[in-house]
Amino acid sequence: MDSIKACVFDAYGTLFDVHSAVMKHADEVGQHAEALSTVWRQRQLEYSWTRTLMNRYVDFWVLTGEALDFALRSYQLEGRAELKKTLMNAYFELSAYEDAAETLRRLREMGKKVAILSNGNDAMLRAAVSAAGIATVLDACLSVDELRIYKPDPRVYQFACDRLGVLPNQICFVSSNAWDLGGAATSGFNAVRVNRQNGPLEYEFAPLRGQVHALAELPALLAAW
Ligand code: LAC
Repeated sequence: MDSIKACVFDAYGTLFDVHSAVMKHADEVGQHAEALSTVWRQRQLEYSWTRTLMNRYVDFWVLTGEALDFALRSYQLEGRAELKKTLMNAYFELSAYEDAAETLRRLREMGKKVAILSNGNDAMLRAAVSAAGIATVLDACLSVDELRIYKPDPRVYQFACDRLGVLPNQICFVSSNAWDLGGAATSGFNAVRVNRQNGPLEYEFAPLRGQVHALAELPALLAAW
């Protein structure tokens, strides 16, 4: 486990609960709240991949707004400008999973660098990190915005190595997004899946190093390596 120098976390879905924005305002959204949140997230990811393929980058905040427009349209809520504003504001300061702050602190105490590597832009990440009270436990908060390409492009994972000054095999990369883990494992990272919902395996381009069901299980997993 001493060979691991840094623990690098995906942000949205891993440290921050992407569905908490809609869930906080479920009454205002109405009966399709859960479905709308799912469509919002799916389109947000899909747009990041299509835009990267088409070389038409816009930052993650803009793209998140575009995805929400589609989700609102899907449930005949497109006329609700105030609702869009409310949901975007909630997304700006998403709730962190309850074990996030303590887990990051413990990993830092174990001597690891702790960082975020995310598609989110700097402003979004800063707001969510500060709302979660984890700014002081982070060594770095890395955004793809600097590169203008989205994960899982291999250049994004290399960027993390360059910025942290470590080799891929010295990184424990933690994500609950299987496609992100596929990118990280292929880049030579020790990839650990946070599989809260017991989802099936996918994107098996390279083996994962481990799997946990909650962030709180990570310190023990690393101690056993
Ligand atoms: C992130 C999203 C895509 O990069 O999960 O934080």
